[in-house]
Amino acid sequence: MRIKKVGVIGAGVMGAGIAAQVANAGVPVVLLDIVPPGSNDRSAVAEGAVAKMLKTEPAPFMSARTAKLVATGNVEDDLGKLADCDWIVEVIVEWLDVKQALYRKLDAIRRPGSAISSNTSTIPLRDLTEGMPDSFKRDFIVTHFFNPPRYMRLLEVVSGPHTDPATADAVAQFADVAMGKTVVHCNDSPGFIANRVGNYWLQVAVVEALDAGLTVEEVDAIIGRPIGIPKTGVFGLLDLVGLDLMPHVNASLARTLPPGDAFHAANRDVPLFARMIAEGLIGRKGRGGFYKFDRRTRKKEAIDLATGQYRAERKPGFPEARDVKGLLALPGKYGEYAWRVIGQTLAYAASIVPEAADTIVAVDAAMRLGYNWRWGPFELIDKLGAKAFAGQLTAHGMVVPPLLAAAGDRPLYRVEAGRRQFMGLDGGYHDVVLAPGVLLLDDIKLLSKPVLKNASAALWDIGDDVVCLEFTSKSNSLDDQIMALLNQAIPLVQERYKALVVYNEGANFSVGANFGLALFAVNIAAWGELEKSVAAGQQTYLALKYAPFPVVSAPAGMALGGGCEILLHSDAVQAHAESYIGLVECGVGLLPGWGGCKEMLTRWTVAGKLPRGPMPAPAKVFKMVSTASTSKSAAEAREMLFLRDGDGITMNRDRLLADAKAKALKLAESYVPPTPVDIQLPGPSGKLALRMAAEAFHKRGIATAHDLVVSTQLAEVLTGGTADLMDMVTEQQMLDLERAGFLKLLKTSATLARIEHTLETGKPLRN
Ligand code: NAI
Repeated sequence: MRIKKVGVIGAGVMGAGIAAQVANAGVPVVLLDIVPPGSNDRSAVAEGAVAKMLKTEPAPFMSARTAKLVATGNVEDDLGKLADCDWIVEVIVEWLDVKQALYRKLDAIRRPGSAISSNTSTIPLRDLTEGMPDSFKRDFIVTHFFNPPRYMRLLEVVSGPHTDPATADAVAQFADVAMGKTVVHCNDSPGFIANRVGNYWLQVAVVEALDAGLTVEEVDAIIGRPIGIPKTGVFGLLDLVGLDLMPHVNASLARTLPPGDAFHAANRDVPLFARMIAEGLIGRKGRGGFYKFDRRTRKKEAIDLATGQYRAERKPGFPEARDVKGLLALPGKYGEYAWRVIGQTLAYAASIVPEAADTIVAVDAAMRLGYNWRWGPFELIDKLGAKAFAGQLTAHGMVVPPLLAAAGDRPLYRVEAGRRQFMGLDGGYHDVVLAPGVLLLDDIKLLSKPVLKNASAALWDIGDDVVCLEFTSKSNSLDDQIMALLNQAIPLVQERYKALVVYNEGANFSVGANFGLALFAVNIAAWGELEKSVAAGQQTYLALKYAPFPVVSAPAGMALGGGCEILLHSDAVQAHAESYIGLVECGVGLLPGWGGCKEMLTRWTVAGKLPRGPMPAPAKVFKMVSTASTSKSAAEAREMLFLRDGDGITMNRDRLLADAKAKALKLAESYVPPTPVDIQLPGPSGKLALRMAAEAFHKRGIATAHDLVVSTQLAEVLTGGTADLMDMVTEQQMLDLERAGFLKLLKTSATLARIEHTLETGKPLRN
């Protein structure tokens, strides 16, 4: 079954977000909720949810246009609209009887064989389907998304004993490929995997902190970054998700977990929390939480766990640990606390295999993707050493889970003959199997040596005569070494391979040029060197564009400045859906100097989306570049022409490299390099018009004095310098203008101040 239309019932926090992600996948979706009592507009709840999402940040929709794929309605009048849906997701209140009443109505109208799922976070599948006909049980699964559904990559899927595997597969495949989720199969046990471990971890961290008399800041410093947990730690996370959720989840787990489960010992009522919830101190969505910003004093405050009163925030008195071993070695009660939380949490995780998850791989994936942990529990155990960890458990009188006992002195994960393997319950190693269509550079790197390599980049053979150029510099910033490797790669690919893919597995594709190096050159007034370096970058990107083989760039995360310009010079782009692309040079007082102005002008000139004539394209690009506009998704990047019609978007991050490689091979079948395009530009009169627009912004206080200098220079480049309306401007002429403009700005003290400030603080300077 292919899923071509989806129904979502319940337009609350989760339902609306799930519907948006289906729409982001380009698939039509029907979103229904109740008829609000006393309202004239019977579909007001679902309609309101969509309207609200269009104003929410971070945005649930990847583009405002996507919202059109969501049809709204209500469950009294519009159930019929679900009849042709291939998958219906129930996302209503967490009450069994209400859910079951809805299932009976759905079963009467749904297409036989259509998949039906619940987004329940706590109710077992066997309870949800109790009393329902076999035909319903066959098509039913649990699909547990995480909040917010667009950004959290985990999807837990539970099948029942009666579920048709084909139904579960169809939904899992859709969630993976079209919605971009990583599907983790869970067993039908309370809280599934991530919340089972995550909730236990939070509960233990809280009660142990109370017993040890630690402050919230101390707890968040210990149970946070050093073990690869987001810096929100424990109390910061409770503020983020809302303290009010905690008693509900705890009560549900207390009800459903077997009596011997370690959760019960940690599940203690905390009077302070009950009081905080009653007073609305439930975190960021309430009047403050464990942390709060005092508007009067303009200072951050934290709650004193002993007195329940707010006091000024206090930095912990111990040095930040570097890793998990460093944490356990912290002095006195701090090291003791770290052990109690980490020891119990990791042991608990080991105890739920195979009850909740078949393998340790599933548990690690669930914690990484559902709680944003950098390492899963078993990866952390390997950092401590399975044997050393088991020894410490014994020393503290704790039970050693069978899995750890079986491991003995062997690691839980290993690499054998280039394959990643994990330890099974049988004590043997098994290959970590990736879904078909998933290709990871990290895995290729285990197997092979780079074809080329220097300090900032490497070239890898990714099979089928395709090579992958990887940036390895800090934040994947672009420097002379990367340019050098690109130049080395071009003749090599021409001689021995079919195509080149530019891709890496960093958090960001590239944050742009390394301005630290430029600043250094400026400080020693090496202008000749700087000019040469800009020119070399331009020639490298040109060489890439006109190389006799296809180049496909595959960004994920930020692709800014020079990182964006490399996309603009590629034959095609295969972008991860979460790609944030922009020419942001003006922010640091510069302008795109490696062909970014030229490429964007050409795109907007030939796209046929603007009125004819030489002025609309420069005006459009001027607006985008002078304001450093960055796309908030690949879909938006397409609207901004950073991506073109033939470029592809991959929803699942793990499928990006395989998709880019396939695109490169497809292009290689009949590849002809592009022909240079000359463009007609308006010259000085156009520059004057753009300058007047910029002055108006300056007068209104929107643009600073130096913004005006920068945008005037940009206007000169974008309008073709001294071009005459009758002339055609060539690519090389554009590059010369960009280079001259770039160097001129680099010689201003205000631009240097911006670069220095940004390098030091990571923030822009508005001078
Ligand atoms: P919510 O309270 O924000 O939204 C529930 C929506 O369902 C409301 O708009 C309500 O009007 C509607 N509704 C209630 N009964 C209905 C019915 N009979 N027919 C149609 N609509 C009905 O709740 P939320 O947080 O979105 O949770 C929904 C489900 O997702 C629950 O099962 C919850 O356990 C689960 N979940 C929640 C997560 C979260 O972080 N909030 C995370 C993962 C799962």
